Amino acid sequence: SDYSTLGDVAGKRVLVRSDLNVPLDGSTITDDGRIRASVPTIRELAAAGARVVVTAHLGRPKGAPEDRYSLRPVAARLGELLGQDVAFATDTVGESAQATVAGLADGQVAVLENVRFNPGETSKDESERAAFADQLAALADAFVSDGFGVVHRKQASVYDVALRLPHAMGQLVATEIGVLRRLTEEPARPYVVVLGGSKVSDKLGVIDNLLGKADRLLIGGGMVFTFLKAQGHEVGKSLLEDDQLDVCRAYLERAQQTGVEILLPTDIVVDTAFPNGDRTPEPRVVPAGEIPADALGLDIGPDSAAAFAAALADAHTVFWNGPMGVFEVDAFAAGTRAVAEALTKIDGLSVVGGGDSAAAVRALGFDEAAFGHISTGGGASLEYLEGKTLPGIQVLED
Ligand code: 3PG
Repeated sequence: SDYSTLGDVAGKRVLVRSDLNVPLDGSTITDDGRIRASVPTIRELAAAGARVVVTAHLGRPKGAPEDRYSLRPVAARLGELLGQDVAFATDTVGESAQATVAGLADGQVAVLENVRFNPGETSKDESERAAFADQLAALADAFVSDGFGVVHRKQASVYDVALRLPHAMGQLVATEIGVLRRLTEEPARPYVVVLGGSKVSDKLGVIDNLLGKADRLLIGGGMVFTFLKAQGHEVGKSLLEDDQLDVCRAYLERAQQTGVEILLPTDIVVDTAFPNGDRTPEPRVVPAGEIPADALGLDIGPDSAAAFAAALADAHTVFWNGPMGVFEVDAFAAGTRAVAEALTKIDGLSVVGGGDSAAAVRALGFDEAAFGHISTGGGASLEYLEGKTLPGIQVLED
C-alpha cells in the first residue's frame, strides 16, 4: 500500500479505521474473518514503527456504552492474530483513550472502545460529527482508512476524521476496490450474479444496476418469495415484502426486454416453522409454485441448486451476495453450499460479497483460497456495484 502521503510513519501516532464488526455469541467471536482481514495493514504500520491506534465499531449501539457491544474481546483476538500485545482503551476519545495512546511505544498497537458509543460518530448533525472527529483527530498524527465494510457510511471515524489529518487508503480498502472495479469495468463474460438474503428492498439498487450489466441473475434466499408471489404463486408463511411486488414484476419484465436471464428456484425446501433450537426441523421439498399455506420456504430445493450450479459453470465472472437459505441450520444449508461449491470451480473471477455470504462459506467449511476474493463489505460492496459514491472513498480521493 502507498502511505507516502503520510511521510515516514516511524514514531507517529497513526489512527487506523478498521471494520472489526464481527458476529459474537456472548463474548465469543463466531467468525473472525474481518479481524484477520484487518491484520496486514496494522502489522505493516507497526513494522514501520508507527504507534497504531485502531478505531472501529461493533453492532449498532445507540451512542452510549453497552457491554454487549464492547470491542474488548475483539481487541484480544486481534492481539492473538498479530502475535503482540494490544492495549485496550475503555472509552473512545476520553481519558482512557488519551492515556492509552500516550503510553504507546513505536510499533505498538492499541484498540479504542466501540466508536459508536459516542453519539457524534453516527450523528446526522454535521457539527456534532465534526466535534467528535476533532477529538479523534487529536489522538493521532495521521489517518489510514482500512474499514472497507464501512466506507459507505458518512460517519466521523470514516469520513470527517480524514478531513482533519494527513490520510491514506489502507491495503484492505485498496484490494477490495481493485476487485470490485474488475466487476464493473468490462467483466469477462458470462458474468453471473447470485443474490440471496432476506430482503429484496436491500437489493433494489444493485438489481437495477446489474440488469444492464450481468448476463444472468440467480435469485435465492428469503427475497425469492416476493418474486414468486409477483409471478402469481402463493408462498404460504414465507418471508414476503408486499410493497415490493410491483418492483419485482417490473424487474422480471425488464430482464426479458434486455435479454438478461433471471433464474428463480423451481423447488423450495419448506418447513412449518422457522428453525429454532427447541424443534427438530422437518424439511420437505415442494415445487416453487406449490408452497403449502401452513409452510415457509427456508432454502432453494435440490433441482434449483443443480440448475444454479449449471448456470454458474461456464461463468468467467461471478459476484455472489446473500445466502440461499437458512444455512446456519444443516437441513436448510444445501442451496448455499451448492452455490459456494460452484463458485470454487469458476474459471475466472469469483467474488463473495458481504458479511453473511462470507460467514457462510467459512461456516460451511470451505477453503477461503478456493474463491477469487471474499469481500469484508456487505452494504459497501453492494453500494459500490450500484454505482453509488462511497463517502469514505471519496474523501480520500478529493
Ligand atoms: C457491516 O456489517 O456491513 C459493516 O460493519 C457496517 O455496519 P453498519 O451497517 O452497522 O454500518
